[in-house]
Amino acid sequence: MNDGGGRQFGPLGTALVIIPTYNEAENIKSIVGRVRASVPEAHVLVADDNSPDGTGKLADELASADDQVQVLHRQGKEGLGAAYLAGFRWGLEHGYGVLVEMDADGSHQPEELPRLLTALKGSDLVLGSRWVPGGRVVNWPKSREFLSRGGSTYSRLLLDVPIRDVTGGFRAFRRETLEGLGLGEVSSQGYCFQVDLARRAVRAGYHVVEVPITFVERELGDSKMSRDIVVEALWRVTAWGVGERVGRVIGRKQP
Ligand code: GDD
Ligand code: MN
Repeated sequence: MNDGGGRQFGPLGTALVIIPTYNEAENIKSIVGRVRASVPEAHVLVADDNSPDGTGKLADELASADDQVQVLHRQGKEGLGAAYLAGFRWGLEHGYGVLVEMDADGSHQPEELPRLLTALKGSDLVLGSRWVPGGRVVNWPKSREFLSRGGSTYSRLLLDVPIRDVTGGFRAFRRETLEGLGLGEVSSQGYCFQVDLARRAVRAGYHVVEVPITFVERELGDSKMSRDIVVEALWRVTAWGVGERVGRVIGRKQP
């Protein structure tokens, strides 16, 4: 992974914290309030996939009371990847200098955001990491920890990316980094979207830094993790890994 090589990094512009939501009515108010309190200068974009439980409407109420909160209403559930791509596009169009990914359920603690943003001053991309020294998970069932650690290890080895927590979703990007990742070609829908972006960032030579975080399992609402999401991640990661190896052997650069 690129170590930054004594590079000078430009100042950080205004941050947009993108929070994708699907049925997070019990969590949305608290998470937006915590972000606003922790990083008062940042703006928030809730990217809601027309949640049947009315999360979008609650987000609208928060937005109408606060100029720094906006809502992106999407037609229906299209997956985490699609929601983030739409959120990134919106943020880039509106001139934000930093784009942050964060879950709505409190697993990613807004109080840790200042540490991520500080690390971004000297890097292109910061990954909140559960699997570096100092990182940890609270209240996660062993089965979920096994899946996450296994998924990270499989991806790291097969894709040759020196990242411990490659599936995590608490991240801060400089806008220039996102602009250099070829987002137009990303078709990952579920949580493998995170692996896809990490892999693209490493391939593009960006200076990627992992910062330890404490991931706290949600207390309210349900995880959207599903069998389909695991299957998509497994086949895509395998296809990327095999594709790159074949490409190397026949001397052709893979997309
Ligand atoms: N708009 C939208 N559309 N949001 C979604 C969708 C979707 O289809 N699916 C999930 N989300 C939102 C949830 O509402 C939540 O805010 C966030 O994405 C994460 O979803 P969870 O269902 O809480 O994920 P998790 O806790 O099981 O998974 C965590 O770990 C994964 C593996 O490490 C997250 O941190 C993932 O980002 C991570 O990849
Ligand atoms: Mn969660």
